[in-house]
Amino acid sequence: MPGLTRARKAAAAAATAAAAAALLAAPSAAAAPQPVVGGTTTTTSAYPFMMQITDASQDQFCGGTLVSPTKVVTAAHCMVGETTSSVRVVGGRTYLSGTNGTVARVSGIWIHPDYRRVTRGDDVAVLTLSTPMPYTPVGYVSSSDTSVYAAGTTARVLGWGTTSSGGSSSDQLRTATVPTVSDASCRGSYGSRFVQSDMVCAGYSAGGVDTCQGDSGGPLLIGGRLAGITSWGDGCAAAGYPGVYTRLTTFSGQVAAQVDS
Ligand code: ARG
Repeated sequence: MPGLTRARKAAAAAATAAAAAALLAAPSAAAAPQPVVGGTTTTTSAYPFMMQITDASQDQFCGGTLVSPTKVVTAAHCMVGETTSSVRVVGGRTYLSGTNGTVARVSGIWIHPDYRRVTRGDDVAVLTLSTPMPYTPVGYVSSSDTSVYAAGTTARVLGWGTTSSGGSSSDQLRTATVPTVSDASCRGSYGSRFVQSDMVCAGYSAGGVDTCQGDSGGPLLIGGRLAGITSWGDGCAAAGYPGVYTRLTTFSGQVAAQVDS
């Protein structure tokens, strides 16, 4: 089972399913969990475009990326069932327990119209903020930038998600680097659930470093630009099961239409 659920809403069920999947995927010594599994702590000063997507109580459940002062890219699966009044975007807040930074309300939620479930692709959404964020946005790939995904390219992931499969969220923002994985290899891991046009995989074959529950919607950065969105995986950081990210070049045009609207 992929980690379909958002961190806070079905934590128990997700943890059980993820733990079971991780055990099946890595019967030998499990890689030591650490970010995001296996990374280091960082700050929103270092990554000012890194946004918390929260509920109205400012409890984080997904990540997002500021791509213009009023536009945030996140995952479609993060926004299912949400409304403009149920979500907030919080910038400049390194700690989940913090109360600093800037809280914005949301005036628009665009979910890819074809989105049905993470294993079918189209896992992209764009939020319009009611008030601009005073933080520097990051650029995103254009449709012609498909070479950024060449296997073995170093990518950076960020988030407040669980630091092990079935574990608890990190109070402090974390980051890690992971190499992109070839489409053939990812198909070998996930079969027909890997939709090559819409997804790209990243992770070490031995596992140990990965995004995990609660990191969804956050960025996969390549060459300092947003190139992917944390989407799904079987367990987290398990050998042979890399993280799956939305292949943003496929959706650049649609995202740009939203960002520029
Ligand atoms: N679906 C998860 C979320 O909602 C992200 C899971 C990423 N899994 C992975 N193995 N990389 O937060």
